[in-house]
Amino acid sequence: MRRRELFRAALASTAVAAMLSKKEAFAQEATAKAARGMAMPKIKDIQVIECAPKGSRLTVVKIVTDQDGLHGYGCATFTQRADLIKPAVELYLKPLLIGRTVDRIEDIWQMSYDSSYWKNGPVENNAISGVDQALWDIKGRMADMPVYQLLGGKAREAVDLYAHAEGSEIGETIENAKKFMAQGFRHVRIQVGVPGMAGYGARQAGQRIPAIHNEPVFEREAAMRRALALFEAARKELGPEIELIHDAHERYTPTEAVQFAKLAEQYRLFYLEDALSPEDIEWFRNIRQQCTTPLAMGELFNSPHEWTPLIKDRLIDYMRMHISQMGGLTPARKVAAMGEIMNVRTAWHGPGDVSPIGHAAMVHLDLNITNFGIQEYTPFNDAEKAIFKGTPETRGGYTYASDKPGWGIEIDEAEAAKHPFRRDQPLNGGWGVVRLPDGQVVKQ
Ligand code: CO
Repeated sequence: MRRRELFRAALASTAVAAMLSKKEAFAQEATAKAARGMAMPKIKDIQVIECAPKGSRLTVVKIVTDQDGLHGYGCATFTQRADLIKPAVELYLKPLLIGRTVDRIEDIWQMSYDSSYWKNGPVENNAISGVDQALWDIKGRMADMPVYQLLGGKAREAVDLYAHAEGSEIGETIENAKKFMAQGFRHVRIQVGVPGMAGYGARQAGQRIPAIHNEPVFEREAAMRRALALFEAARKELGPEIELIHDAHERYTPTEAVQFAKLAEQYRLFYLEDALSPEDIEWFRNIRQQCTTPLAMGELFNSPHEWTPLIKDRLIDYMRMHISQMGGLTPARKVAAMGEIMNVRTAWHGPGDVSPIGHAAMVHLDLNITNFGIQEYTPFNDAEKAIFKGTPETRGGYTYASDKPGWGIEIDEAEAAKHPFRRDQPLNGGWGVVRLPDGQVVKQ
């Protein structure tokens, strides 16, 4: 009797709830019963917080519930198409989800994923991630536990990181790597500028190489020779113990990628990242047959169609998916579990174009999984820390999660408003073009 009354009151409370199907209403009643008669909080509003405290345009979804003070945050950052996420959330996910109970993360993920019919686009996936991570945050706050506890608790005390050392010259990269090593980092990604051209991950050095166009220019063979010279110098000057990572950023042809990985083998990289583009992943088998250089791939992946074959066939050592880009924590924890069975480890994509909420989501997952490999590190600046209160803390090359409920982060929206998206950037934050000397576009 009491339950029925509670149920009726809950239904009457919003007009939207009245539209729920009978089946869903019964399911909600069962949940309310399981929760000892307490009505489950409902999604009252879905808001989008946009800010750019250090240049990169960060998008965070805030889910507000009908319970006073109960809300959660999720990372939905897609810097290269930043203005498209807010409408995807407000015009499509919000009408679908308002009035639903916050406890059904899996169900809401599936519903959101299916609601566009055409799936796995970066705008849609990032919008879903914002909702998904916000619901995990809320679940943690309701349980009064950090999210890593909901996942099964810590499998390690802290998360081992790698830092980015770069320079326009090899000596500069080495010096920057030494600085990170002095801070306690045991893993460093090394990138160097290629004289006269638009390399990836480091500033350009020297006079522009000849080309029959005026746009940024890149030449593959020279870049590969330069990277190999960097590895040789790094091993000589940094010693045998430091773990070296390098990002090829999908710039080589498939056979060049095989050569590169084979020639790099003697320098014992921790891994070579993005040796191939997502379009060329069938070629990983060729690299595997030729050498033992560990391979990492995944930041550009959108969907299970891309990562499943590589993990299933053990063609990569590290999966590097961008967690908001793949749709949030829900799909990430599933693929992490799949990787555990195959002993493919994780190295989630963690550059500056992930919000501190997104970084926290990675750290909570990293703490729990047994096939954790390494975590990409980006320092938070003061403006970011003023907005995102409770960001994970880094000491001695490790990062530590907050033990507060959910992600452990509270957003100061007044601070966020001080760092709005800029609209005066070239191409509105999108990437420009890089061409071969003959004018053909290269992937970057
Ligand atoms: Co990369």
